[in-house]
Amino acid sequence: MSYVTLHVVRGDAEAGRTIEDYEVPYHEGMSLLDAIFWIREHKDTSLSVRYSCRSANACKECMAVVNGKAGYLCSIRAVPESEVHIEPLPSLPWIKDLTTALE
Ligand code: FES
Repeated sequence: MSYVTLHVVRGDAEAGRTIEDYEVPYHEGMSLLDAIFWIREHKDTSLSVRYSCRSANACKECMAVVNGKAGYLCSIRAVPESEVHIEPLPSLPWIKDLTTALE
């Protein structure tokens, strides 16, 4: 089985930032949002991320910074045996983990 390793910024403005590492089983076509759902289901239900449409790239709510570039978590495909750094958008008020306020 292949895995993708996610390094995810956790915390909030009051508690500060930490980075948590998660090894997620890879499957064909998996998006980074799918990987985060796996973490929420199997490792930590408290991991916060904003989303609505999940894959249509329509709601624009899942935007985060991925390996230094802004992008939509639901439309960026995971790559097996890769490492991905994910953090909240710096340009919006930080609520928790990967969740920022809406524009
Ligand atoms: S969840 Fe809607 S654009 Fe990503």
